[in-house]
Amino acid sequence: MEFTNRTFLVTGGTSGLGGATTRALLEHGANVVAADLKGEAPDGATFVQTDVTDEVQVQTAVAAAVELGGFAGAVNCAGIGIAAKVLSKGEAHPLDLFNKVLQVNLAGTFNVTRLAAQALSQAEPGQDGERGVIVNTASAAAFEGQIGQAAYAASKSGVVGMTLPMARELAVHGIRVAAIAPGLFLTPMLAELPQAAQDSLGKQVPFPARLGDPAEFAALVCHVIENRMLNGEVIRLDGSIRMAAR
Ligand SMILES: NC(=O)c1ccc[n+]([C@@H]2O[C@H](COP(=O)([O-])OP(=O)(O)OC[C@H]3O[C@@H](n4cnc5c(N)ncnc54)[C@H](O)[C@@H]3O)[C@@H](O)[C@H]2O)c1
Repeated sequence: MEFTNRTFLVTGGTSGLGGATTRALLEHGANVVAADLKGEAPDGATFVQTDVTDEVQVQTAVAAAVELGGFAGAVNCAGIGIAAKVLSKGEAHPLDLFNKVLQVNLAGTFNVTRLAAQALSQAEPGQDGERGVIVNTASAAAFEGQIGQAAYAASKSGVVGMTLPMARELAVHGIRVAAIAPGLFLTPMLAELPQAAQDSLGKQVPFPARLGDPAEFAALVCHVIENRMLNGEVIRLDGSIRMAAR
């Protein structure tokens, strides 16, 4: 898949990993629709206010991408990272909190993927019959969820789990589906921590012993888009960190 005259939909596209992905795709010459609840899209991208859990809003965002011409894929970066214990001082994990994390991170990713795939299936096929590519964002927590991450880890392992069956199913339409599982990246979430806490987290990464730069995530998204043999795979991008229990 090439970038020029192509349009990509990036959810969570105004901040962190999604913001960096939006900028990288623009730098490669693509058009970008940044679909996010809030924020400002980087210069050159089209912002469409979107809740990824809402069917009509995602249809509107996909339609905006189709309208720009050459709609070629979606990158699912929208997500929330709420942490809570199963039992905390005798109180059980609020069920609505668990459902919310599943709804945004897992159902939201599925919602965008299914509606993007529907539009992509109508595209003119390119080389190898390729029509589009979907890149999902999982997490190292899908494999080593920490204490307090029952909901988050469940949502991200759901993203891992659905990547292969979606790739298998959508192959007939020439649509690839892959996922990236980031370790620790310096996005607004972590940037709010004091420098000492950021340094301490960074030192837990075997090599390079630092937090990831969102531009490094975006570079992998661009590679997944370009490399047609990447399909149905979940790629860890984590400096080989394996998260500890806490
Ligand atoms: N930063 C990390 O270290 C890290 C590690 C592993 C996985 N991830 C995952 O990467 C993705 C991006 O995280 P980030 O660190 O860039 O966080 P971030 O908070 O900077 O960006 C997330 C974006 O998603 C948007 N969003 C949240 N709920 C939404 C909804 N319902 N509809 C539309 N947009 C919504 C937010 O407004 C925000 O702009 C998330 O899925 C996160 O779980 C991040």
